[in-house]
Amino acid sequence: MCGIFGCISRDNNVAKIIHESLKRLEYRGYDSVGEATISEGRIYIKKDQGKIDDVHRLINLDDLPGSIGIGHTRWATHGAPSRVNAHPHLDCHGKIAVVHNGIIENFAELKAELENLGHSFKSKTDTEVIPHLIEENLKGGLSLLDAVREALKRLEGSYALAIISTIEPDKIICARRESPLILGVGKGAMYCASDIPAFLPLTNEAVILENNEVAILWHDRYEIRKLENWSHVIREPEIITWTAEMAEKQGYPHFMLKEIHEQPLALRNALRLQDIYLDLMATFLDRAKNVFLVACGTSYHACLAASYMFSKLAYLPTYPIIASEFIEQAGMAVNIDTAILAVSQSGETADTLAAVEYARNRAATVLGLTNVVGSTLTRVSRVYILQQSGPEIGVAATKTFTSQLLVLAQLALRVAKIRGKVSSQEIKSFERELKMIPDIVEWTIMRNEEKAKQIARKYRDSRFFLFLGRGISTATALEGRLKLMEISYVPAMAFPAGESKHGPISLVEPGVPAVFICPKDKTRKTIIGNIMEMKARGASIISVIEEGDEEIKQLSDDYFEVAGGVSEIFSPITFIVPLQLFAYYMAVERGYNPDMPRNLAKSVTVK
Ligand code: F6R
Repeated sequence: MCGIFGCISRDNNVAKIIHESLKRLEYRGYDSVGEATISEGRIYIKKDQGKIDDVHRLINLDDLPGSIGIGHTRWATHGAPSRVNAHPHLDCHGKIAVVHNGIIENFAELKAELENLGHSFKSKTDTEVIPHLIEENLKGGLSLLDAVREALKRLEGSYALAIISTIEPDKIICARRESPLILGVGKGAMYCASDIPAFLPLTNEAVILENNEVAILWHDRYEIRKLENWSHVIREPEIITWTAEMAEKQGYPHFMLKEIHEQPLALRNALRLQDIYLDLMATFLDRAKNVFLVACGTSYHACLAASYMFSKLAYLPTYPIIASEFIEQAGMAVNIDTAILAVSQSGETADTLAAVEYARNRAATVLGLTNVVGSTLTRVSRVYILQQSGPEIGVAATKTFTSQLLVLAQLALRVAKIRGKVSSQEIKSFERELKMIPDIVEWTIMRNEEKAKQIARKYRDSRFFLFLGRGISTATALEGRLKLMEISYVPAMAFPAGESKHGPISLVEPGVPAVFICPKDKTRKTIIGNIMEMKARGASIISVIEEGDEEIKQLSDDYFEVAGGVSEIFSPITFIVPLQLFAYYMAVERGYNPDMPRNLAKSVTVK
């Protein structure tokens, strides 16, 4: 997730405006920054690696000349944070400048094709293919707008783009597919940005671009067209009444809620991984004699779920281990034949890195899954995968958890393929299912938002919760419990439901809420038995069920419904969503700020 901004104005010196607006987008990415403007037929560009203030101190972002320009603050996906990889990117002759937020999935093919045609590339980014594609189309005699339009037709993946060119220096061309892009209508100026806060101090009139739309901005007007058939779209600006702080959270009261709602988009990005990394990692996992999945907190819960995925799909036994216990628990079993897959959103968690370091010293193969390019985990891993969720600001992990699960599910399928354990038809059907997950999560969020508020209101004063699931839903139960506990400070326990009779049931007395995770899988009959045991002792049953599961509905005091259509093996990705919402509303009901739970930090860099 990056931030893009563009400004075309009647007045000169847009560079300062771009710089200030990028600062309001810095929460979207902060590993590098850049600006390009046009003046007297020439593109001026400044960019570098680092936070905006640091880069500005070194190279002064405000002194680029001109009344038209674009800017970018980066959250690296393809290519490490560096000056050459920072946006804007140019064509061969420095006539076209592009800033981009999103992922161009077919960039490798396009790059090879353009290189064959003589284009030379400077960066490792996917974005750089765009100015070169436009340049190539211009050679064919197209106008700038047509050249952009033809280039867009070739792009697969997601994008929000702002493009300027010395060929027609009176306009910014923008386009959107999946990644957000909003126009700001000012007095004698037009803006485009990834997010409203970027231009809110300049104008409160906003036009939200829809998917597959192109916008052309002049300093005094704008035009929107559909990419598909180039028809005009008439859309009047809306008046934004948010404060700057509300706007940064896109109108949500907290980052956590915003990030819960961002899950469909984050999941779509997690489906856009490059095959070579998935295949390479799958090969290492297949070859290893023993595989450890190592992580802390929420990331550990992703590992636990993954151990069921690897076993059920690929018949590969793996050992999920809490990172701080890894050396004591498994250290002596680590050797050259071991693969350790370390999962860490931040890529900086000290306990996880200590486990990795230990494994490296014993010649094991280190594989990494993280959300942060350039993090320590990416540097110490033999192969790493970036989950591409964008920055997560709320301390409680939400969108990064579901994305980790989706990446691990894809990995398990790859290993299954290599091992020939699942027929190619089944693999295809699983792959189709994975593609549907972002939509299912979207539906599930909508369906449960109000419900989560109501249920949180009802149980806000409960002093203890139990979370129970069987099979892979054990991981969902553990994660649901962690979310509730860490932000609303209600003591809670989570167990595989089968264990409850071996101890935890003694805690149950009338009114104790017991949350059951109940996908329609093989464990359903036994979980119904566990619900009955708890009910008989007076527990209040809150269930997370598949839509239309009347039998469990009847047994429950309250229930959350999750859309069907997802196999048991992927169910944690959808079943956790209502529990994230529930935890969030519990914290709010109890008067706590869910974004800043006491004593916790987003990145735990001490052991
Ligand atoms: C809980 C949470 C933490 C992290 C844990 C590991 O909501 O966010 O439990 O999951 O600190 O962090 P990473 O994934 O950055 O290694």
